[in-house]
Amino acid sequence: MCGIVGYIGPRDATPIILNGLKRLEYRGYDSAGLAVLQNSHIEVRRDAGKLARLASLVEESPVHGQVGIGHTRWATHGEPTARNAHPHLGMTGEVVVVHNGIVENFLELRDELKAEGAIFKSDTDTEVIVHLVERYLSSKIGLAEAARLAFSHLKGAHGIVVLSSREPDKIVAARIGNAGGVVVGVGEGEMFIASDLPAILEHTRQVVFLESHQMAVVTRQGLKLMTLGGKPLRYNVHSVAYDPVAAEKGEYRHFMQKEIHEQVRSLTDTIAGRVDFDNGHNICLPELNLTAELAKNIQKIFITACGTASHAGMVGKVLIEHIARIPVEVDIASEFRYRDPIVDKNSVVLAISQSGETADTLAAMEEARRKGATLWSIVNAIGSQAMRIADGYISMQSGPEIGVASTKAYTAPLVDLYMLAILLGDLRGTLDARAHRRLTADLRLVPDLVGRCLDREAAVEKVARVLVNTSHCLYLGRGINMPTAYEGALKLKEISYIHAEGYPAGEMKHGPIALIDRSMPVVVIAPRDPWYEKMISQIEQTKARGGLVIALATDGDESIAGLADHVLWVPETPWLLSPVTTVIPLQMLAYHIAALRGLDVDQPRNLAKSVTVE
Ligand code: F6R
Repeated sequence: MCGIVGYIGPRDATPIILNGLKRLEYRGYDSAGLAVLQNSHIEVRRDAGKLARLASLVEESPVHGQVGIGHTRWATHGEPTARNAHPHLGMTGEVVVVHNGIVENFLELRDELKAEGAIFKSDTDTEVIVHLVERYLSSKIGLAEAARLAFSHLKGAHGIVVLSSREPDKIVAARIGNAGGVVVGVGEGEMFIASDLPAILEHTRQVVFLESHQMAVVTRQGLKLMTLGGKPLRYNVHSVAYDPVAAEKGEYRHFMQKEIHEQVRSLTDTIAGRVDFDNGHNICLPELNLTAELAKNIQKIFITACGTASHAGMVGKVLIEHIARIPVEVDIASEFRYRDPIVDKNSVVLAISQSGETADTLAAMEEARRKGATLWSIVNAIGSQAMRIADGYISMQSGPEIGVASTKAYTAPLVDLYMLAILLGDLRGTLDARAHRRLTADLRLVPDLVGRCLDREAAVEKVARVLVNTSHCLYLGRGINMPTAYEGALKLKEISYIHAEGYPAGEMKHGPIALIDRSMPVVVIAPRDPWYEKMISQIEQTKARGGLVIALATDGDESIAGLADHVLWVPETPWLLSPVTTVIPLQMLAYHIAALRGLDVDQPRNLAKSVTVE
């Protein structure tokens, strides 16, 4: 996942940038680069591979100057090669850009810029930004204004830093949406810029966090903050403690909150490079080692996992059965390992695990291996056992998840399973070209839809205040959003210690309805999916018994607004992807309830991040 570092001041920028990038190594990356203003000229050094490679490039061909920017890139558009590594220099050689995020409309912008004469030197989406800045930069329009005009064309979420040899006394930085943060570090006669605090904390503890749609013009003496509309803003300088762990939390109170907000970035990375949007929209999951022959021979898929990961698996069942028409069973790993399941060489056993080290999941995988099944995994921790022992794997691209309650490592596998279902459907011929195109095109909507859910945090917090003192809570869902009910309830119970149950809504009448009264809040997950009508009648039945209903509904749904006591709104989402958006308000709800109760959100009692014992 990409990282940014920038420096302007009296010292040599190169070692400061290299050290800063080193502190962001934990995020993962596949190429790195820096640009430094040397004698009024921009010098760029960049290459594929690790920072050691960049450091040796700099050693072979030194570059010194007092202003510079650097980047570690996790490939999205274009392979991890030197030409695609950041920083990207424009045609004049006078402007250079580093960028986190994806320019969603880059094809359109690239065509427009090419028609104006721009020559592209990389396969990246980022390069459009530097050409756009150059389009506006002139004797009348300075760097800050040119950058601001350029940013106004970009769709998607971004962190961007721009430097120009025409105005060597400044660096321009912007944050648009949630593609990670942008933070400006305030020093004495020097300033720092970074995507994440650890990159700059050895130099300063005084920082300014950019909010979405803000930009900063940073000089040696300070910064000017403004909206992307050009309106000047006042800002607060925060003092942060030099605690490397706290530093990684950045502007958030807890890791869980940070990780909830990182989902735009993690899902962008999940999709990036996996769908060839330029060419037939093919799904590309090379580490899975899935051949057409294997796909045709699969008779059954068993998804096995624990906790949150098993809820992702339940969504995967609906996706694979619906799209690829392969029967899927979901088994809790601690059950699968002992129940002597009917698994053979025509079965695939797919394990899902954030840590890749969960004892029960690994034991279930070994059991599947003994029975001759093909073994796949969807794993976050690179190099973990669940990745190593599988015949093929999908890597989650979520980055480190530190909060014990899993959030971003829940939504990433949902998208992985969606892509897997499409790939299986393609290889088994259950998807025609039109359906394939529609399903893959919908993937592009995900980061923006998730960003729109996150923007509603304040409204979710208000509902959290209503529920903060409750002792019980019931979550109801159906179909593809039944696992969302399980996951919402699990999030609440594990961090707030409130008793919460997730239930398939259709089962209510077979018992749990007896629990309903005013003291039992019921969270009803009712987006516009194929089970919508059923969920409406569920709300009615709950209201008829005096229950307090918190409905999760699609924007503009007046009928639900009229029925429920409180509504958590989500943007309209294609139903097969709806679990990705419906879970976001439930993650935020659990988070705020626990935070309001003053609990240790990131390390709830009795729980461990990685359960390596049985
Ligand atoms: C819940 C949670 C746990 C884990 C479970 C599996 O928030 O974090 O339920 O999902 O322990 O862990 P992994 O995915 O590491 O196998």
